[in-house]
Amino acid sequence: MATELTWLGHGGWSIATGEHTVLLDPFIDENPVALVKADDVAADFLLVSHGHGDHTGDAVRIARRTGAQVVANFEICQWLSGRGVENVHAMNIGGGFDFPFGRVKMTVAHHSSMLPDGADGGSPCGFLVSFPEGNVYFACDTGLFYDMTLIGAAGIELAVLPVGDNFTMGPDDALEAVKLLRPRRVVLVHFNTWPLVAQDPDAWADRINEETDAKPVVLEPGEKIIL
Ligand code: NI
Ligand code: MN
Repeated sequence: MATELTWLGHGGWSIATGEHTVLLDPFIDENPVALVKADDVAADFLLVSHGHGDHTGDAVRIARRTGAQVVANFEICQWLSGRGVENVHAMNIGGGFDFPFGRVKMTVAHHSSMLPDGADGGSPCGFLVSFPEGNVYFACDTGLFYDMTLIGAAGIELAVLPVGDNFTMGPDDALEAVKLLRPRRVVLVHFNTWPLVAQDPDAWADRINEETDAKPVVLEPGEKIIL
């Protein structure tokens, strides 16, 4: 079965690949644009990019209900362990590991990571995930950085970029990110969740078509990309 990535809205994804379901940044019940409920989603693995509530979201509840293994930085894994999440896999920036669904490399992200209760959430990250059909780069919450050129050297089938501005890259820098990463396809996230991150994804897609070789994909929450 092809790998299918369903956008949960904001930064969240549900990824069906092989026999596994991988949730990334499962911010669901407080997410005003999510169409599902945290108590209904399946998960074998959870990837959490940083400590902010719009990314850790419902991770504790989902992990406890499903027994899914949570992949996150060391500090977030420690915090989850203190909340009854026993199945954690701690990583740190630059490290990779071969999970049953594919290799995950933790990449740098320029952001912050405090957990909802004020605990130290370590360093924020992105994820480069090698699925059987190709590499997907989830930039997660970050500003633009020139080392995206190195990440792109791995060969990116799909880049997932924030575009909301204010807390992350905005449209101009997300366009620069595409030029550095040189992905085959690119999809936008972290916009239109709240008025503060309002963007016009169709206008951005026109610029991608005009200025890069990448194919822009514009999704509504609940829609999917097939690798
Ligand atoms: Ni954040
Ligand atoms: Mn965020």
